[in-house]
Amino acid sequence: KPLKFVSLLGSLRKASFNAIVARNLASLAPTHVEISALGSVGEIPHYDADLQAHGFPDAVVAMGKAISAADALIIVTPEYNYSVPGALKNALDWLSRLPDTPVAGKPVAILTASPGAIGGARAQYHLRQILVFLDGRVLNKPEVMIGQAPSRLDPENDSITDADTRSLISAQLAALAKMTANQG
Ligand code: FNR
Repeated sequence: KPLKFVSLLGSLRKASFNAIVARNLASLAPTHVEISALGSVGEIPHYDADLQAHGFPDAVVAMGKAISAADALIIVTPEYNYSVPGALKNALDWLSRLPDTPVAGKPVAILTASPGAIGGARAQYHLRQILVFLDGRVLNKPEVMIGQAPSRLDPENDSITDADTRSLISAQLAALAKMTANQG
């Protein structure tokens, strides 16, 4: 039976480098892995406990269900001011409030891409910290931090042109599949 992974994107921008990475994940995954994209974090209203009191927004419920049904979660995100974009944090804040805690115990892989030199490394460590409370099982290695994204990705062809980046992502997805299988 195939493993099902779902991907969550931290950018709302049409021409997002991280979106290119997210769209290329399926082609780099082991053959027994299927990857589908979760809804946009942009569809989720700002977290408000009063809103929650009237019922979780549909976009949050749908995202939670999709994560619960998946074997693993993949987060692909830019770094904003040395941390995660607010829209992604907002989605994670909502997910953390869902009664069935969809991220708890779930294997999670993190990828970041940036035009900068270090590829969003600082955001990765903030994201790991956030995922402690959500009790996600974050894969340690390999870390995928895609620096100088414009030289490694091709927006025209919606592709990852850099072979080392492609093989690193493949290795990470294989490690995530292995971790998932070991969850029992
Ligand atoms: C950025 N950018 C950025 N890059 C980085 O490597 N470290 C950082 O801390 C930041 N901070 C930051 C803050 C804000 C508000 C913006 C808008 C941008 C640059 C960022 O990596 C670049 O815009 C990417 O292209 C964003 O990712 P997507 O949308 O291309 O996926």
